[in-house]
Amino acid sequence: MRRPLLVALALVALLPLAAREAHAQKRPVSVEECAACHGPDGIARDSEVPNLAGQNERYLFNQIMAFHNGKRVHKEMRYMARSMSVEEMAALAAYYAALPPR
Ligand code: HEC
Repeated sequence: MRRPLLVALALVALLPLAAREAHAQKRPVSVEECAACHGPDGIARDSEVPNLAGQNERYLFNQIMAFHNGKRVHKEMRYMARSMSVEEMAALAAYYAALPPR
């Protein structure tokens, strides 16, 4: 029962991204890219990658921001986050926070 609601929430959260894609010059970041490591449901299959599902939204945002500005050092996450806008980071944080934790 909760799935359709969560999918709807996720779509709403990502709508601003879709709307901006038409104008953005830089390559937009999508959750599909995150899913490669963090899992399509925010639960990582690899034990060296953290789960994101159900994590605190503020915490997730702060971590993505820290990767973005280099305060938290990690090669892959820096690559993913370096060109994200604040809106993209906020939408991704909201998306993963809304997913059910394991
Ligand atoms: C190539 C694999 C890979 C991809 C792709 C990837 N991540 Fe990560 N992510 C990691 C790893 C590994 C860590 C752990 C970093 C560390 O050890 O500091 C991490 C950490 C994080 C964290 C911090 C979690 C915590 O508990 O502190 C967040 C938030 C995050 N990633 C979000 C994302 C988002 C959003 C995307 C898509 C835009 C993404 N990641 C794409 C591998 C990846």
